[in-house]
Amino acid sequence: MSILAGKKIIVTGVANKKSIAWGCAKAITDQGGEVIYTYQNERMKKNLLKLIPAEAFTVELDVSSDDSLAAAFTAIKEKYGQIDGLVHSIAYANKEELSGNVTDITREGFSLAQDISSYSLLAITKYALPVLKAGSSIVTMTYMGSERSIPNYNMMGIAKASLEAEVRYLATELAPKGIRVNAISAGAIKTLAVTGVKDYQSLLSLSEERTPDKVSVTIDEVGNSCAFLLSSLAGGIIGDIIYVDKGVHLS
Ligand SMILES: NC(=O)c1ccc[n+]([C@@H]2O[C@H](COP(=O)([O-])OP(=O)(O)OC[C@H]3O[C@@H](n4cnc5c(N)ncnc54)[C@H](O)[C@@H]3O)[C@@H](O)[C@H]2O)c1
Repeated sequence: MSILAGKKIIVTGVANKKSIAWGCAKAITDQGGEVIYTYQNERMKKNLLKLIPAEAFTVELDVSSDDSLAAAFTAIKEKYGQIDGLVHSIAYANKEELSGNVTDITREGFSLAQDISSYSLLAITKYALPVLKAGSSIVTMTYMGSERSIPNYNMMGIAKASLEAEVRYLATELAPKGIRVNAISAGAIKTLAVTGVKDYQSLLSLSEERTPDKVSVTIDEVGNSCAFLLSSLAGGIIGDIIYVDKGVHLS
């Protein structure tokens, strides 16, 4: 059964083949969906083009710029008219804000991390609304550092708490339009983003140690859960944070 047959879904955040978004894009494709790829800048575009088929649609989308968001959604509307879903898989914080003490977080560093990692979900949803069909689904990526104090995750934990609150408010606002919003709380995976966290090797090994079967979650497993949440099979799931972490959150 192809649970996303005929669906057109935007996937943000493919930086390389280790990206969680790449796991999502592969699962969507496997389930019969068509992926609309967005990339942050020309450098990311180069990496992206190495992974995807030549005929795939790509468009630049930098969430820090309203002009970029507007241009991207104009291009998507022209090409597709309406679409069926959106994967938000974007985060950024300065390295200084991912180590040491939270009392050292600067006003600028706080604003930057919140803007890119949290506000971006509200922003992209606002621009996506005119093209999202009733029955569509939005999925974002979060991490357990939102609710627990994880060494060095610091600013990103604060941004993820904000992101998760957005999921609940957006879900409430958009459910009457037939649009579901949910988050996946993924387990720790070695990606470009994670390497920004000081002593990230400890984060990864501690996380693996805490899985009941001692095997960390993969981007393919996160991607499959994302495909499910994007599909009508998940019609009853609204405003939730679904753990896809191989049980790390249990202990
Ligand atoms: N890797 C993990 O352990 C883990 C665990 C839970 C949640 N997450 C979350 O998953 C998401 C994806 O991260 P990842 O781990 O796959 O790392 P990644 O580095 O592969 O992806 C991060 C993406 O964010 C994009 N991005 C950053 N600033 C942007 C901007 N201004 N405009 C548009 N895109 C921008 C980058 O281009 C990149 O593609 C993030 O939200 C991250 O916090 C990661």
